[in-house]
Amino acid sequence: MTDLVLSETRDRVVILTLNRPDKLNALNYALIDRLLSLLDQVETDDGVRAVILTGSGDRAFSAGADIREFAVSVAEGTDAALRDFVTRGQHLTARLEAFRKPVIAAVNGLAFGGGCEITEAVPLAIASDRALFAKPEIKLAMPPTFGGTQRLPRLAGRKRALELLLTGDAFSPARALELGLVNHVVSHGQLMPAAFDLARRIVSHSQPAVASILTAVARGLNQSIAEGLLVEAEQFARMAPTADLGEGLAAWLGRRRPAWDGSWTHITRPDETRRSGREQDSLTPQKSKPNG
Ligand code: COA
Repeated sequence: MTDLVLSETRDRVVILTLNRPDKLNALNYALIDRLLSLLDQVETDDGVRAVILTGSGDRAFSAGADIREFAVSVAEGTDAALRDFVTRGQHLTARLEAFRKPVIAAVNGLAFGGGCEITEAVPLAIASDRALFAKPEIKLAMPPTFGGTQRLPRLAGRKRALELLLTGDAFSPARALELGLVNHVVSHGQLMPAAFDLARRIVSHSQPAVASILTAVARGLNQSIAEGLLVEAEQFARMAPTADLGEGLAAWLGRRRPAWDGSWTHITRPDETRRSGREQDSLTPQKSKPNG
């Protein structure tokens, strides 16, 4: 059976490719489940530091949820549709939004419906000049269901988002750039090099620092500024005892390049020798792995 999501790792960056080109990479349940399972693997793979998400074929990033499939769930009843379709799709976009390694969407073509919602959810996105975006759910007489009524207004502002949500009109990569949906628009041939270049500029930094910034932004964004500042302080507190922050400061002071440890392992200071392991366990991964 064809793999619904292709996975290839190069230079510590994994490329995940949505792979139903004859269906414009429509997101059926099996594809979403496969993508979620690959994300689980990537999260704990120390050899992978960033993700590029793209679509196979020359037409589409993704034309959205698989309409034939979810129409069956809708016919089964509201509970089935919520369980099989809405919850699954929302889980995917929430997972991408909060992922602790950077995910860069390389939007290579059509990004309609769920394809557009994935682009809204990921922390970074680059579009080919052949990309085309749309929120076409209104044409099916339904609201978007993978976060599209929530993230686009936060990214683009209420009125700009509502015009797209209520008309279903397609919009260009240049408009997506203006709306803050993508970081850059590049010529089609430059899409993957540009995505790799962005990934490379991020993975040269301390991995825990990258994770703490992604987490602070994803968790803080939808809260009040006061609560967001608490999230930021909490992320700093996680970084403060790490070898990487000590190294970053020492390297700057010593005018040399830093050599990252890349783990959450704490430096043991003299006054901390009797600190219990329990406290560290609550801070999640304790693996020590050298990173360049
Ligand atoms: N779900 C299921 N299948 C889809 C799909 C989707 N969202 N989008 C495209 N496909 C399939 C088509 O059924 C067709 O397969 P088939 O030849 O076996 O029937 C194939 O992909 C090519 O699509 P087609 O519609 O023939 O291409 P087109 O160039 O004429 O139109 C679109 C492109 C994107 C305008 C059109 O496919 C479309 O409207 N797709 C649905 C977009 C949408 O509403 N997404 C949100 C869903 S909530």
